[in-house]
Amino acid sequence: MHSTEPEAVNARAWTTYGTHHLQRGTAIPDVDRISWGFWPTGPGAEVLGELTGLRVLDLCSGLGRHAAHLVREHGARVDAVEASAGQHERALARYGDLPGLTLLHADAVDHLHHAEPYDVIYSVHGFGYIDPHRLLPALRTALKPGGRLAFSVLHTNSLGHGPSSTVVPRAEILPLAGGPDQSVEMWVLVPELWEDLCVDNGLFLDGIDALDAPEDNSPVSVRLYRAHSHASAGSRRRPG
Ligand SMILES: C[S@@+](CC[C@H](N)C(=O)[O-])C[C@H]1O[C@@H](n2cnc3c(N)ncnc32)[C@H](O)[C@@H]1O
Repeated sequence: MHSTEPEAVNARAWTTYGTHHLQRGTAIPDVDRISWGFWPTGPGAEVLGELTGLRVLDLCSGLGRHAAHLVREHGARVDAVEASAGQHERALARYGDLPGLTLLHADAVDHLHHAEPYDVIYSVHGFGYIDPHRLLPALRTALKPGGRLAFSVLHTNSLGHGPSSTVVPRAEILPLAGGPDQSVEMWVLVPELWEDLCVDNGLFLDGIDALDAPEDNSPVSVRLYRAHSHASAGSRRRPG
């Protein structure tokens, strides 16, 4: 299955975003934790379990900051896949020399189809930009049996718009500091749909965490999904 027109919209927006920040020379501060929401609160890398020596994949890795953190602080060997040329170039300039981190410029799904299976796959705010019907089947084959998956996605946006109950993307705004807002097409789905997508593609769903904006007046909310693969296709289990 090839990438869809909404994904092409997203690719153009993230290309613009990366080029814009390359030209501005925007700094890339290190992170000292995994932030699954948009804030440095809530669960961190412990969600992924013990990572020392494991083969880990960061999908839609952006600047590679989370991947670099897992290499430096958790002893993981991380492949970080990012489709925007500008974002990839920025990541290379910042973390290209870090042993244990491999920064790859590729479409996430193409990479999943060709890579050796991983022990752990994760994505921080990447899955919402990719058609789930293209992404989830590819994930299934790219995770080792028993491999772990965690991903965070938007649930409620800054206007208070909650998730959709059909697997259809919708327009969201990608702000561009010092430039025009970009329009993107995002899959912002109710938990039941993400759950179905996981279990229909051979993944046990272990749990869902609600991550709300820390400010009282912000409706923004994110969901963190934790799952793992199993060896035999077809069985389904839902979280308790
Ligand atoms: C919101 S950013 C998150 C970046 C990073 N995970 C982080 O938390 O800092 C989403 C990223 O997903 C990338 N992306 C979107 N669609 C992609 C695809 N099909 N394959 C790989 N990367 C993609 C975008 O270029 C962008 O850098």
